[in-house]
Amino acid sequence: MNKQSAIRTPQSSIPDTHEMWAQSARQKKIAILGSTGSIGINTLEVIENLPFLSVSGLVAGKNVELLESQIYRFNPSKVAMMDEEKASELRKRLVNHPCKIWSGLSGIIEVATAPDVDLVVSAIVGAAGLIPTLEAIKAGKDIALANKETMVMAGEIVNELVKEIGVNILPVDSEHNAVFQILEGRQREDIEKIILTASGGPFRDRKGDFEGITPEEALAHPRWLMGPKISIDSATLMNKGLEVIEAHYLFHLPAKQISVVIHPESIVHSLVEFIDGSMMAQLGITDMRVPISYCLTYPERLLTSLPKLSLAEAGPLHFFSPDLGRFPALRLALEVVEKGGSWPAVLNAANEAAVDLFLKEKIAFTNIPFLIEQVLERHSPLSHPNLEEILAIDRWARAEAEKLRISDCRLRI
Ligand SMILES: NC(=O)c1ccc[n+]([C@@H]2O[C@H](COP(=O)([O-])OP(=O)(O)OC[C@H]3O[C@@H](n4cnc5c(N)ncnc54)[C@H](OP(=O)(O)O)[C@@H]3O)[C@@H](O)[C@H]2O)c1
Repeated sequence: MNKQSAIRTPQSSIPDTHEMWAQSARQKKIAILGSTGSIGINTLEVIENLPFLSVSGLVAGKNVELLESQIYRFNPSKVAMMDEEKASELRKRLVNHPCKIWSGLSGIIEVATAPDVDLVVSAIVGAAGLIPTLEAIKAGKDIALANKETMVMAGEIVNELVKEIGVNILPVDSEHNAVFQILEGRQREDIEKIILTASGGPFRDRKGDFEGITPEEALAHPRWLMGPKISIDSATLMNKGLEVIEAHYLFHLPAKQISVVIHPESIVHSLVEFIDGSMMAQLGITDMRVPISYCLTYPERLLTSLPKLSLAEAGPLHFFSPDLGRFPALRLALEVVEKGGSWPAVLNAANEAAVDLFLKEKIAFTNIPFLIEQVLERHSPLSHPNLEEILAIDRWARAEAEKLRISDCRLRI
């Protein structure tokens, strides 16, 4: 879509805000880490409709075709691919294009820390997002954080760095974005608790056991279209567990002030209860472009062309407690957030390994939490691990998961 026409078309009362932005705000330059994924693609769609945002850099893992088309469409001055071979292929395809192409972790860091970048969208999946996000913070970049694994693995380290460098962490996750919006301008002492909503995933109402669940069934989320890892995490409810840990570090709240409620309609994105008994909720359509827009335009709110929520059409909204017996992954995460220290990093790595094994059909769906629990039982905890220790723990937990899969006959499919 033509960017210039995109600002002029919205209804008459709002364009002033756009005009003010276009005139007063200097162009905000964005680097997207994970541009070929679900969050990356949604972010680019938002940027395409906001003329004062431009793409400075893009990072992908392996998807050359999609990255190439994004380069032609958004004209970044630098890109990086994690995969060295794919980066070489991209260089051959773009031989006459001025875009600078890097590869590997150092290349990703070049893109994330480039001097012209104002905001980094951290949307690589899994532990691979940690180092580039930390480097971007060190370079003074504001972060729109989708990669919850960064906070789960190294929440303390991130918080120390954010305080030292003075950058903003803007949560992309719809639940955290909801809480962030509700808490703006409020006192921490006024908070009784935050309540994260969960759709309950595809197996919320499944009768019988979970034994024979296939990757295809687990990937079919009823409400959100997401990448494979987070889709499986949503099916086990580990995603909500990771989000509780993320919220603990993002909002500086103890675990006992964070709770989870199942809300199948995914209309209420999360709530905050205050000490006087008032409860505030943030509602909206089920579309990640809404929280992404807020992060990209923060602290402003701008008109988007997205459909608006109709409460009458949404119908009745339901809320109930999660069943930790049927969803042991959530129970494990809730135990881990209480313990803190190195435990969340172990949980995260064991979960990534278990999800990968399930997607490759090497373990059953029910073995995902079982394998994670086995790895957690073998862990010797550290109370305040530094980055090197966290990375070592991450490697240990993955190797341990693989070892257990081979040696423990209960894990054979
Ligand atoms: N999807 C959602 O609605 C949603 C909502 C809230 C939070 N999140 C969080 O956002 C993050 C991304 O989720 P997603 O659903 O967008 O995942 P996704 O669709 O699987 O996309 C992952 C992105 O990361 C890239 N990538 C994977 N491994 C990489 C590596 N080692 N180095 C560099 N890039 C790598 C992929 O590149 P290639 O495809 O080119 O290999 C892709 O661009 C996750 O942490 C997730 O929990 C997602």
